[in-house]
Amino acid sequence: MTNLSRRHMLQGLTALSGMAAVSSPALAKLAGTPQPDWALGWRNPTKHSLGTPQLKLVSGTMPKGLSGTFYRNGPAVFERSGFRMNHWFDGDGMVQRFHMSAGSVSHTGRMVETELYLNNEKEGRITGGGFGTVVPNPAPMKGPDSVNQGNTSVLPIGGELLALWEGGSAHRLDQVTLETKGPKSWGNDLQGMPFSAHPKVDVDGTIWNFGQDVFGKQLVLYRIKPSGELHSVKLIKDVPGGMIHDFCITDRHLIFVAPSFRAVRNSDTYLGRFKYQKDAAQHVVVLEKDDLTARRDFELPPGFQFHYGNAYTEANGDIHFSVCTGDDRFVTQGAKDVLRGKVPADSPVNLCHALLKADGSAKITETISEMADHEFPQFNPRFVGRKARYLYTVGRSHKNRPGQSAVLKHDLQTGDIQSHDYGAKTFAEEHLFVPGSGSAEDAGWLVGTTLDYGAKVTRLNVLDARNISDGPVAVFELPYTLPLGFHGTWMQG
Ligand SMILES: [Fe+2]
Repeated sequence: MTNLSRRHMLQGLTALSGMAAVSSPALAKLAGTPQPDWALGWRNPTKHSLGTPQLKLVSGTMPKGLSGTFYRNGPAVFERSGFRMNHWFDGDGMVQRFHMSAGSVSHTGRMVETELYLNNEKEGRITGGGFGTVVPNPAPMKGPDSVNQGNTSVLPIGGELLALWEGGSAHRLDQVTLETKGPKSWGNDLQGMPFSAHPKVDVDGTIWNFGQDVFGKQLVLYRIKPSGELHSVKLIKDVPGGMIHDFCITDRHLIFVAPSFRAVRNSDTYLGRFKYQKDAAQHVVVLEKDDLTARRDFELPPGFQFHYGNAYTEANGDIHFSVCTGDDRFVTQGAKDVLRGKVPADSPVNLCHALLKADGSAKITETISEMADHEFPQFNPRFVGRKARYLYTVGRSHKNRPGQSAVLKHDLQTGDIQSHDYGAKTFAEEHLFVPGSGSAEDAGWLVGTTLDYGAKVTRLNVLDARNISDGPVAVFELPYTLPLGFHGTWMQG
C-alpha cells in the first residue's frame, strides 16, 4: 500500500464519517433511560471496570476438559450527562473476559480506552459518534480513529488481545488485565486504516481480514501470519459501495459480498449515507487465496446482512456459503428503537445458503425462516473453509420485545433444527463452538452469555453441542448484569 492510497482512503473516510457539529433542541429528546424491562440490555454498566474471582454455579457442572478464556466485546456506555446515543452500535466498547479453569469461572470487564473514550471521560460527556448518532459539539476529528469505539469483537493475536471495530484501527489489550495499550499499527503506511471486526483464522493459523473504503469502492485486504506479524496487504478495487461487515473463506477462496445497502447520499452520520436499494443485486467478489489478482464476480438477489456462516469450494470450483440475510430495517431503524425503549418493527433475518457456480451463475439455494430471526452464525472452527454439517445460530423472535431467546443447531445434511429456548424474558447472545477432544464435528460445547431481564441477571451457559435441546450442562451467574454485546472468541488454555 502506498502512502498516497492510505492518505486518500483516510481522508475519504474522515470526510464522510458522521462528524457534523450540531446543536439542536431536538437532541434533548434523546436524553433519558428507556423504561421497559428489556431495556436493561442497553443500559450503561454499573461500573466501567468490573470483576469477580468466581461466578456462582447455579446448575450442572463444568465439563471436564473445558478450560480456556472466553472473551466478548460490545457497546456499553450509551449515555453521559443526559445525552443518550441514537444507535446501538454507538456505545463505547467494553471487553469481557471469562476465564474457565478447574471447573470455576472468573470475570473481568473493562472499557476499551480509545481516543474517543478517553476524550469522553475527560470532558464528562459524549464527544463523538461513530455510526448513527449526531453528537452536539463534537470534538475535532483527526481521522477515523477519532470516532473509533472499539466495540465490536476481539481477536487474540501475538500474545495480545485486539479489540476490533471496523471503521478504523484495532486496539491492543493485555490478555489478562484487559488494559488498553493503544491502537494497533500494521505498518507505518497503514496507521488508522480500517480493520474489520470479522477476521478469519484459517486452518494453518493464517489470519485474513479486510477494511472497507465504501466511498472509494475499495477494500484493503490483510494477510497476517499465525505469529501476528503482517504477511502482506493488498488493495482490491472496484468493489461496489454496499456495507460489508463480514466475509467468508474456503480452502481456496475469499468471498466478499457487497449488499444492496449502498452508500449513495450525503448525511450527517455514516449510517445515514446508506440507502437500501431493493432492486440492486448483491455483488459478490471472489478472490483466489494463492493469487489475489485472480478474481471472479457474481450477482445474488437483493438483500443485506451482517454475518456469514461457513463456506467451501467443491472440486469443480462451485462455492457454497451460508448467510443470515434480510434487509436494512434493523440497522436503519430497529437498532435506534432499542435505545429509545421501543420494540422494533419486524425485520426478518433468514438463514440462507448460496451457490456460486463455476460457470459464473449464482443463486440462493435454500432459505430457512423457521424460528427466525437467525443471527450470530457459528461453526466448529476446525472446519473453517471445509464442507461442514452443522451450523449454530441464535433465533426465535418475539412480538413484544427485541432480540432472540433461543440457541439453534442446524443439521445442514438432514434439515433438522435442534434448539434450546432460554425463556421469553431472556436474551440469548452469540454462542461460540468450542471444540472438544473427539473427532466428530459436533464434539464440543457451545459457550454463550444470556441476559435474563426478568430476574436481572447475566449468565454464562455451557451446552453439549451434540445435544443442545437438553439445555445447558452448566450455568454460572454474574453478580452484576452486562449490557448486551456483539461478538466473542475462545482462547484455549
Ligand atoms: Fe458482526
